[in-house]
Amino acid sequence: MRITVIGCGYLGATHAAAMAELGHEVLGMETDPAKLASLTAGEVPMFEPGLADLLGRHVAGGRLRFTDSYEEVAAFGELHFVCVGTPQRPESLAADVTQVETAITRLAPHLTRPTVVIGKSTVPVGTAERMAGLLTELSPAGADALLAWNPEFLREGYAVEDSMSPDRIVIGVADDRAEKALRDFYATVIDAGTPVVVTDYATAELVKVAANSFLATKISFINAMAEVCEATGADVVDLADAIGYDARIGRRFLQAGIGFGGGCLPKDIRAFVHRAGELGVEDAMTFLRQVDDINQRQRERVVGIVAGMVGELAGARIGVWGAAFKPDSDDVRDSPALWIAGQLHLRGARVRIYDPRANGTAAVAFPTLSYADSAVEACRDADVVLHLTEWPEFREVSPSDLADVVARPQLLDGRNVLDHDAWRSAGWTVRGLGRR
Ligand code: UGA
Repeated sequence: MRITVIGCGYLGATHAAAMAELGHEVLGMETDPAKLASLTAGEVPMFEPGLADLLGRHVAGGRLRFTDSYEEVAAFGELHFVCVGTPQRPESLAADVTQVETAITRLAPHLTRPTVVIGKSTVPVGTAERMAGLLTELSPAGADALLAWNPEFLREGYAVEDSMSPDRIVIGVADDRAEKALRDFYATVIDAGTPVVVTDYATAELVKVAANSFLATKISFINAMAEVCEATGADVVDLADAIGYDARIGRRFLQAGIGFGGGCLPKDIRAFVHRAGELGVEDAMTFLRQVDDINQRQRERVVGIVAGMVGELAGARIGVWGAAFKPDSDDVRDSPALWIAGQLHLRGARVRIYDPRANGTAAVAFPTLSYADSAVEACRDADVVLHLTEWPEFREVSPSDLADVVARPQLLDGRNVLDHDAWRSAGWTVRGLGRR
């Protein structure tokens, strides 16, 4: 099918390339001139495993093109996917849906034939209903310009894999024609056995925020347990292993550490709390505020623990491993690693960071921090080493070699994945979070 993808950031660029891979003809729409130039040249403006190869291949093969013209988009596509960002508003917890509104408002006047516009962005419940009205009102096709909501569940680091073989497809519709169009579009994926949930707009919108809220709750739950473990001499990793064997609970997303970050979980739960308030059901969502608070407290707690380890933060040398919000990503949006590094720096510590991929993005966000070219260099003469993003590369570093490089062999493992016994055997003092 001939489809368009409006907004080629993380979600859009991945969706565009993955759908080209599935055999569709794709036109991506991007208004940012720098991003557009890079995508047109077949280059991905961020790091995501497998994406550069996929996108480059389909741009070269001609199945994937990019434009900044809504007129061209309307003329080209049978289906239009809206993948623009919905960041947190600067003045409140709410999500800013301006980009979604702009996309619909600018596209609609060019829609002269029957078409389906599909929202993939994460939006406050009620947005789709409003956008459907806008679409009918503004497009010459009128009631033949249909809207569907089809949330995306891809994870950074696995974005290509998640797009090509999702674990479910959720379709929110108000018209059977839109459902049929999406079933035809996803036919290969559906035939491969992917479950499909067809529902109304509101449920489709809620599925996305409910999923992210649940994941965030799991993480904050285990991080709260980590604090209790510290107070009792118990071990949170053993605890997570043991409760995780219960299939009703599951071990995934029970990794205690410095907490969750990124462009999705933090802002999605805040926007959900805000929306619940508008809907008069704030009390039902109070726990999500606590999920956010527990998450924030983890970061603050780490700053306090580091202060205790070095004695005096002012002038202390701190080597930091990791700046990205998680491994296999160069994304530093709301990264707990960078937040901690930044706070330590602001309190007078001399912080040196190394991230295998995110030094560049981190330096843009936090130019006053110092960045090293290697894991070992970040630790030279350090009073403490902080392991804050669990890149596999950090597990390869020899604790005994590193002991010769630092001033004091002290490690804080903020992700609880290093081999603490091996580090202790090499003479290090090791702190985890919630560890015995
Ligand atoms: C998240 C969801 O997992 C995706 O399903 C969703 O599509 C996406 O948001 C989105 O809304 O677009 P992502 O932000 O890529 O995906 O990252 P996650 O893998 O969920 O990790 C989020 C954060 O939680 C990271 O900072 C990670 O380090 C942290 N985390 C994760 C933990 O601290 N402990 C865990 O056990 C798992």
